[in-house]
Amino acid sequence: MKAYTNAVQRIQIINGPNLNLLGKREPSIYGDQSFEAFLDNLKTLYLQVELTYFQSNVEGEIVNKIQEVGFDYDGIIINAGAYTHTSIAIADAIRAIKTPAIEVHISNVYQREAYRHQSYLSEVCKGCILGFGLDSYRLAIESFL
Ligand code: DQA
Repeated sequence: MKAYTNAVQRIQIINGPNLNLLGKREPSIYGDQSFEAFLDNLKTLYLQVELTYFQSNVEGEIVNKIQEVGFDYDGIIINAGAYTHTSIAIADAIRAIKTPAIEVHISNVYQREAYRHQSYLSEVCKGCILGFGLDSYRLAIESFL
């Protein structure tokens, strides 16, 4: 059990491809709430956290963001979407930085297609939280507090 801290924590959320469509995209899997609406609510729950959000459909932009925040922030929460299952470049970026990253998925990828069972990110992340819907992101924040 760790001690809770009062210090402001800087946490970067990074969402990968197609996660800009949350709320519209396959709602039976990903729910009907937009990430922006969810984030507004999340911020009110964690006033001691400086939460910043970045989404990109472009692999290199995700690598750039990881490098940009990866030496100064307290934590990264990353849902790399389908790049989770393909991207050695994103895994290498996480490997290269100092800030711990948590891998997050909205769905339980292990209940889905076999090609979603492989993650290049799990071995370089501090931990993985998946299958709790958007609440996976909140649980990832809790892990940093
Ligand atoms: C996802 C799972 C991935 O397999 C998929 O490609 C996504 C979303 C999730 O949050 O459940 O885009 O990362």
